[in-house]
Amino acid sequence: MSGVAIVGAQWGDEGKGKITDLLAEQADAVVRFQGGNNAGHTIVRGEVQWKLHLMPSGILYPGKRCVIGNGVVIDPKVLIDEVDDLRSRGVDVSGLRISANAHLIMPYHLLLDSAGEARLGKLQIGTTRRGIGPCYADKAARLGIRVQDLLDEKILRKKIAAALEPKRLSLRPYARDPTLDLHAMTEEYVTYGHRLERHIADTARLAWEMLDAGRTVLFEGAQGAMLDIDHGTYPFVTSSNPVAGAACVGAGVGPRDIEEIWGITKAYTTRVGSGPFPTELHGPLGDAIRERGGEFGTTTGRPRRTGWLDLVALRYAARLNTLTSLAITKLDVLSGLKRIGVCTRYRGADDAIFDHFPYHQSVLHQATGETEELAGWSEDLGECRTESDLPGAARDYLDYVAEFIGVPIALVGVGPGREQVVWTRAGGDSVLGAQASVA
Ligand code: GDP
Ligand code: IMO
Ligand code: MG
Repeated sequence: MSGVAIVGAQWGDEGKGKITDLLAEQADAVVRFQGGNNAGHTIVRGEVQWKLHLMPSGILYPGKRCVIGNGVVIDPKVLIDEVDDLRSRGVDVSGLRISANAHLIMPYHLLLDSAGEARLGKLQIGTTRRGIGPCYADKAARLGIRVQDLLDEKILRKKIAAALEPKRLSLRPYARDPTLDLHAMTEEYVTYGHRLERHIADTARLAWEMLDAGRTVLFEGAQGAMLDIDHGTYPFVTSSNPVAGAACVGAGVGPRDIEEIWGITKAYTTRVGSGPFPTELHGPLGDAIRERGGEFGTTTGRPRRTGWLDLVALRYAARLNTLTSLAITKLDVLSGLKRIGVCTRYRGADDAIFDHFPYHQSVLHQATGETEELAGWSEDLGECRTESDLPGAARDYLDYVAEFIGVPIALVGVGPGREQVVWTRAGGDSVLGAQASVA
């Protein structure tokens, strides 16, 4: 049995798609366990770029078992578009399985997401407006519509009517919106059901069968620890739990099914949307990192906020997730900087010092990162494939991070391409690295 969780250790967009695609070569299945199409996971193979929103990042391997777990919220229209797009580009999606228990994003969730943001005005969260929050809210309120409901028109109509009833007041401004018509909506979703039916399955059982047969299953997270609804920078978070513990709930497996937990982090920090960001760089340096790193949202195209690597938040994420390995992406983006900052503690109001991630929102909002400066390097890293190819200063940077966090770095990203990685000696200890070519 080898379950391996791959989770974001920052505020999302760490490169989970690239790392999952890479590791999936050695795995038998990839299971997405939370989030929805707020996620945007990029894979670059040769000249071709893929942007996946709901599809697990193993889908580019023909016939690979790819599961959308019960913890994911699914906009069926987006999923069908993604399936069609992949098919039209020659991808075999026959391995896709969708949990019958996953909840569905409905047209009213999209409207409520935007209305909620508009109501918050300046205080808005900066959501992706994909209906994620309202869908998870309905799930918790036991008013959700699930994938299995698509297969019975009568039940579906009743459930939609019941879900709409308590929302009548908040949906009043959209009374004339044709997408809210009960009959039209039911028909539309029944059609989606017909399209998706062949992929719908008891996905928890699928995962058990694989794990019990000694196969390797990857659990692919979306977003990142700092966007976790319980442990992140609430309320500026997403509405699910991107931490590794949620892989169990969102895929239907137990904690003992997960053997390794990989945390993905950039060599610096980005955040898209509002909320505290202690190491944010305002000004030309932050702009330069955004340009060099192509830091624009995969899902919404919004410019990402940029800053130095926040080791206080990363150490917090490492503990929350009990990370066994770190994968550091985008080290190449830092080439050419004379000095590179890493945040080792926070300074709050009245010069209070915080070595640990503060739990109190007011404290966090006033915290700024105190940085240590490490030596930079000028070399382009894009062609580095072994640790010894990396400049000394880059290796020192990685050593500093691994030591501070207390978790070995298994893999380093030196460009967007799937071959642009350096496996470290520590990576060779992983069930996945052992099978990959480690220099
Ligand atoms: P995800 O949401 O965690 O899968 O990350 P995204 O795909 O939203 O954003 C990561 C971006 O960085 C994508 O454009 C990737 O192609 C790119 N990327 C991933 N790893 C590296 C790397 O090591 N170097 C560079 N330069 N780009 C990378
Ligand atoms: P991946 O999987 C980065 C952010 C939004 C917003 C907050 C809440 O690609 O890393 P939501 O629509 O989830 O209610 O928005 O969370 N957010 C992400 N930021 N990467 C993501 O996914 C994100 N998914 C949501 O920008 O601040
Ligand atoms: Mg992304």
